[in-house]
Amino acid sequence: MDINKLEEIFQDIYGAKSEFCFFSPGRINLIGEHIDYNGGLVFPCALDFGTYALVSLRDDNKLNFTSTNFDLKVCNDLDNLAYNKEDDWANYPKGVIKIMQDKGYKTKGMNILISGNIPNGAGLSSSASLEVLTGVIINNLFNEGKIDRVELVKIAQKAENEFVGVNCGIMDQFAVGLGKTNKAILLDCNSLNYKYADMKLLDYSIVIMNTNKRRALNESKYNERRAECEEALKIIQKEKNVQNLCKLTPEEFDALEHIFTDEKIKNRAKHAVYENDRVISAFDCLNKGELEEFGRLLMESHDSLKNLYEVTGIELDSLVEEALKNDGCIGARMTGAGFGGCAIALVKTDKISSFTDEVRKAYTERIGYKPSFYSSGIGNGTHQIR
Ligand code: GLA
Repeated sequence: MDINKLEEIFQDIYGAKSEFCFFSPGRINLIGEHIDYNGGLVFPCALDFGTYALVSLRDDNKLNFTSTNFDLKVCNDLDNLAYNKEDDWANYPKGVIKIMQDKGYKTKGMNILISGNIPNGAGLSSSASLEVLTGVIINNLFNEGKIDRVELVKIAQKAENEFVGVNCGIMDQFAVGLGKTNKAILLDCNSLNYKYADMKLLDYSIVIMNTNKRRALNESKYNERRAECEEALKIIQKEKNVQNLCKLTPEEFDALEHIFTDEKIKNRAKHAVYENDRVISAFDCLNKGELEEFGRLLMESHDSLKNLYEVTGIELDSLVEEALKNDGCIGARMTGAGFGGCAIALVKTDKISSFTDEVRKAYTERIGYKPSFYSSGIGNGTHQIR
């Protein structure tokens, strides 16, 4: 990102220099998909591309939002923040600010210019990136940086759940807010305990592959999966006192499998239980440098998301299948909510170029349009640059 160029744009729009600059990353999830809302373990990491904000303070109560990514300027009054469909992307920062106000945190008027290099709708958490970014701005500028980072992450999730109306789990905001250079985060979404793991990828790299299928209209499917998991949990709770699906081991689940009459509901629960178990193994493999086994777990995860959880689709499946045909690739899976968006592949670093050529060609032949590929470092969580 060219911050000097961004500064010029800021001055053109607001007629004066910006005072502060912030950055917030996107994220990928290595493994542990669709289980954050089932009390499971997830294993995401923050990317080194994301969302930037230039900010200057105002003497009045006005909030001005502009973005280089969208042709929409939004002006709101701090005393009167409400969801407004026409405000589009600005509802994310507005939601965070509103929730912080409700919690008694200090806010003031600002001019804000946002600029992101996370592809929109690619499932790399551009919205969580923007939410946590807003939380850190309000914390650093008006609350002396005293608000705990996990509290900010919870506020960001609450904004998405209650203000924007998307019923997401906590994984994305957590990865964005607590990411660390070259580390993945093993997060227990039930207790919010977490620990970092070194990304010891040896002579392999993670390649992010974008299906370029827009993830429009997926919120209803996402909410449907959540409801199905709740139904499965109720069925299990008739037999066993468990707080959430991921509290069950695969063996405990197998012993209860017969109580389901609806195959679909059983499959959703089975995915959650086995995926949680895979995360534990994957964390272990990464620590020990057992990358072949780590890659195998990624493939198992994708198969489960395809066959049991049914959130992949032809684009993600084709991308993953073509990736696995390449002899430099030892594992691949969808990442994020699914139904389009991105997949990740574990690829021998010196084979990346032939890998992307081959996968691009084969995917384009099958799907009719090109995928995109990104290589990203594993970066730090949201922070102030200036
Ligand atoms: C989206 C949600 C997350 C998580 C993933 C699936 O990214 O925002 O909370 O549920 O899907 O793992």
